[in-house]
Amino acid sequence: MTQTSAPVRPVRASSRLYGILIGLSTLVVLLQGLWAGLFVVEGQDYRDGWVEVHARGADVAIGLALVATIVAVVKLRSRRDLVVGSAAFTVLLVLEAYLGGLIGDHSALTAVHFPLAMGLMGLAVWLPFRAARR
Ligand code: HEM
Repeated sequence: MTQTSAPVRPVRASSRLYGILIGLSTLVVLLQGLWAGLFVVEGQDYRDGWVEVHARGADVAIGLALVATIVAVVKLRSRRDLVVGSAAFTVLLVLEAYLGGLIGDHSALTAVHFPLAMGLMGLAVWLPFRAARR
């Protein structure tokens, strides 16, 4: 009889690590909407403290997504969906953060920053579900 459990274990551990990293990144991205809701008050200037939290949240989300992408590339190479999805997620997060930083001087960029945030949230929810599939 052949034993099949031994080679499966490292992949499972890597999948779990990937799932934790991408799940945390998803949580931080979803929270970005909450922080935005706290600093955007109609008829008033943005509240600086929450803008700062929003900016640091972007750094954390990008860091987690980048590490998740590295785990996917190194340990889960056969999962092309996760490799491509995580890489796209990371690149789009960097673009989102860059555009966000320009909003102060070019408020029209909210027309790109907000919809892109919605797309990122969709991707952020899709990736952990996809990762849970064997
Ligand atoms: C519903 C989702 C989101 C909304 C409504 C939103 C809204 C905004 C707004 C109005 C600003 C301008 C603040 C300013 O005047 O500086 C901003 C800035 C920014 N956003 Fe978002 N955002 C969202 C999601 C995200 C996400 C997912 C990221 C992750 C990369 C992100 C990263 C940033 C960054 C880095 C800034 C610059 C903050 C600074 O000026 O220091 N945002 N966002």
